[in-house]
Amino acid sequence: MNTDTLSLRLQTVVKYIPKGFRMADIGSDHAYLPCHVVKRGIAPFAIAGEVVQGPFQSAVKQVKIEGLETQISVRMGDGLEVVNSGEVDCITICGMGGTLISTILEGGKNKLDQVKRLILQPNVGSRAVRVWLYENNWKLFAEEILEEDGKVYEVIVAEPGEPRTGYSENLEAGFLLGPILTKKQNEPFRIKWEGELANWRRILAQMEQGNESAENELRKQDIHQKMRIVEEALHLDEKS
Ligand SMILES: C[S@@+](CC[C@H](N)C(=O)[O-])C[C@H]1O[C@@H](n2cnc3c(N)ncnc32)[C@H](O)[C@@H]1O
Repeated sequence: MNTDTLSLRLQTVVKYIPKGFRMADIGSDHAYLPCHVVKRGIAPFAIAGEVVQGPFQSAVKQVKIEGLETQISVRMGDGLEVVNSGEVDCITICGMGGTLISTILEGGKNKLDQVKRLILQPNVGSRAVRVWLYENNWKLFAEEILEEDGKVYEVIVAEPGEPRTGYSENLEAGFLLGPILTKKQNEPFRIKWEGELANWRRILAQMEQGNESAENELRKQDIHQKMRIVEEALHLDEKS
């Protein structure tokens, strides 16, 4: 991967950055994403935020190599603390767990008043991202799920608005699977959830061998509830 040819995962994120939007990429590592969108003339200005020294230095170096210092500001800091209110139109946070993404959004809520779009790409735990968006009045604009190099990735795009939009009565199912992804049910979606089901079955079988603590009992109930949601969504419950 380089700044001309991004991974399919990051190309999918780029698809949702409207032309002319100033953007901030939080957890930018090598700043591949900001360099790409600025070079393509999609974003006139970008911030690359990093909290770790090594990736921060890689971002500084990459921006310098590309000669993009006037358009890309590389900043060291935790989450949205590198962004000033009103400075960007959209924010990307990619390649992390959903819980970390929602913690970053929660910690930087006061920076989001003028942000028109969030493009979030959790590697795991997308439920935490959807719950945060729902509780903070962001509506889902799009969702994508894709497979690359044997891994399945989700991209969640949100805009300020009525957070119930797109969700059915069964909110919990929507949070877990994604309401838009559930409607589409493409191949990566089925691969992901069939894999999760197999994983939960393995965990339950192992738990049967273990002790019967109250904690284990709660965990089993939680897994059974998730399995029911997924089986229903995949219509596996109708096949038996
Ligand atoms: C796995 S990399 C993903 C890089 C790139 N966004 C991508 O999707 O290819 C995650 C990056 O997020 C950075 N990171 C983690 N927590 C962060 C935080 N709270 N604020 C800023 N950056 C963070 C890490 O240092 C790391 O460079």
